[in-house]
Amino acid sequence: MTADRLELAIVVPTFNERANVPVLIARLDAALTGIRWEAIVVDDDSPDGTADAARDLARADARVRVIQRIGRRGLSSACIEGMCATAAPLVAVIDGDLQHDETLLPAMLGALHDDPRLDLAIGSRFVAGGGTGEWDRDRVAKSAFATRLARRVLKADLTDPMSGFFMVRTAVVRAIVPDLSAIGFKILLDIMTTSPRPLAFVELPYTFRVRTAGESKLDHVVAMEYLIALYDRMFGRFVPVRFAMFSAIGALGAALHLSTVWLFFRAIGTSFLLATIIATMTAMTFNFCLNNALTYRDRRLKGWRPLLDGWMSFCVVCSVGAVANIGIAAFVHDVRQGAWAASALIGVLVGAVWNYALSSRFTWGRY
Ligand code: GDD
Ligand code: MN
Repeated sequence: MTADRLELAIVVPTFNERANVPVLIARLDAALTGIRWEAIVVDDDSPDGTADAARDLARADARVRVIQRIGRRGLSSACIEGMCATAAPLVAVIDGDLQHDETLLPAMLGALHDDPRLDLAIGSRFVAGGGTGEWDRDRVAKSAFATRLARRVLKADLTDPMSGFFMVRTAVVRAIVPDLSAIGFKILLDIMTTSPRPLAFVELPYTFRVRTAGESKLDHVVAMEYLIALYDRMFGRFVPVRFAMFSAIGALGAALHLSTVWLFFRAIGTSFLLATIIATMTAMTFNFCLNNALTYRDRRLKGWRPLLDGWMSFCVVCSVGAVANIGIAAFVHDVRQGAWAASALIGVLVGAVWNYALSSRFTWGRY
């Protein structure tokens, strides 16, 4: 390999890391002397102006590139876009908050150069010589639990499947990109489980550093996304995650609908029609809010105008869905007299698929 060819891309996913990015680039520069590299900062339109800070660096140093994603969030999907945006044969992913040890990169590169059969070099906190730095017990326990869960889904025996620090042959990723689930934080897990053949990897120890600037984005939503990603791996082929969430929320909405009817009709004593209208509006609004917060959190509608438009289109879609539900159920019941429960279920299923398909297109389909 001649030194004038691009060897390595470093993908740096960022969200609110303005203070950290310049330091990281300087450290990469120091760690990667003699290597032809480029860094790709993939920023999800951070309010703190991380993308601007990265562009400031890029103007002075052509090895630095910036992808600023608008209206989207997610560590995994950001990493994937970064990995797809380079022509380098090798690509590393490293956190933008200085917690990963960039001095490990040359060893990762060396491992992949030396052994052409290797697909990945993975930074591990759990092989001999690695460590989790100053993590509290709670975080260590949670991480261990998530790791155990991951191993059950994984075919490979990784010590640190949750690692967000690794280097991979770009071609390997490019081949599987359409099949990646791209949900949440676990990009490595996603790559390993999606690949049709077991990927050959080596684990290199490093110590996870303490974050000094900015804050972690690993919160309850990310934890939920982790479970979603595992679900997707196991059952996603049969029932897509989004549809499963949409349906679960729909079931909650139906329960809310029934209790609201009871409250107004039985307890307060309004007419049945009024109770039903109130219940329908309540359940639709409830479903709209939950789907906006959870099912479509990556395309969440924000601000009054988008929310109002979204709510209205959701109501229209669901009303048509309800009519379809009633029509289909009545039709099936016509041909199969007596099968009232099956008829009702088929109606509900058709209505759910309709609501899901159309709302994902019209209510949350802006991007
Ligand atoms: N573009 C983008 N979009 N970047 C994001 C997003 C997002 O939605 N969320 C987080 N990031 C960036 C952060 O700015 C940081 O550079 C990096 O991803 C890691 O995020 P942290 O919030 O600092 O995560 P952590 O330190 O708690 O988790 C780390 O350790 C885990 C192991 O326990 C990460 O390396 C995980 O990947 C790893 O699994
Ligand atoms: Mn971090």
